[in-house]
Amino acid sequence: MRNPIIAALDVPTAEQALKLASEIASAVGAFKIGSELFTVAGPDIVKQIRATGALVFLDLKFHDIPNTVAKAVAAATRLDVQMLTIHTSGGLEMMRAADAAAQQTATQSGRNAPLVLGVTVLTSSDSHTLAEIGCQPNVGAQVERLANLAVKAGLRGLVCSPLEIADLRQFLPSHIQLVTPGIRTGAEKADDQKRTLTPREAINAGASWLVIGRPIYAAENPRAAAESILASIS
Ligand code: C5P
Repeated sequence: MRNPIIAALDVPTAEQALKLASEIASAVGAFKIGSELFTVAGPDIVKQIRATGALVFLDLKFHDIPNTVAKAVAAATRLDVQMLTIHTSGGLEMMRAADAAAQQTATQSGRNAPLVLGVTVLTSSDSHTLAEIGCQPNVGAQVERLANLAVKAGLRGLVCSPLEIADLRQFLPSHIQLVTPGIRTGAEKADDQKRTLTPREAINAGASWLVIGRPIYAAENPRAAAESILASIS
């Protein structure tokens, strides 16, 4: 079985990211580089992590005009990342441009295209947030609408909250990969994630990949924490 744990490298410097990555590499399946680390350390940190042989999920949640998103996705593909994110609310044309750029650039570079993941409704948004920006205030309905649009655009994966996995699995084609943050084991301190599942519950509900940040990097022993999470789903 492939290791479905994606460890979020949510640390403020390249040095800390490389140290954490080397400590836990053997217990996780991939590393996520998000906006903070990328803004501090740039493409170099992606190259350095890739150079260790690890898979990289570049989580920059692109949302712009189709041409700009396509160019950003092409650049990420040339960095040889295995997954990246775009906002599905950017629309059908933007998503199609993103996926086409990933496929074309990968073919030109002689490698596999990264999995372009669509972000639907951020878990920090609720019905008020949606109403504020003029969307229908039913979060579940908006997630379903955007997920269907992503599938129509040809995306092969989505990021979703753990509590959305089971509903999405009801209607999504089975090849769609679901990547979920909001994972908690119960052993860590309480934090800002409110609607969580354990790693085992998320896998049972149909998650393909688990994005795990603080339960690993903020643990006293990150390697032991990652190993124990892996054992809980093996
Ligand atoms: O520390 P924690 O396990 O909560 O980290 C979860 C990671 O997933 C963070 O990098 C966070 O930005 C990201 N994420 C999230 N909720 C979303 C989308 C991404 O927690 N809806």
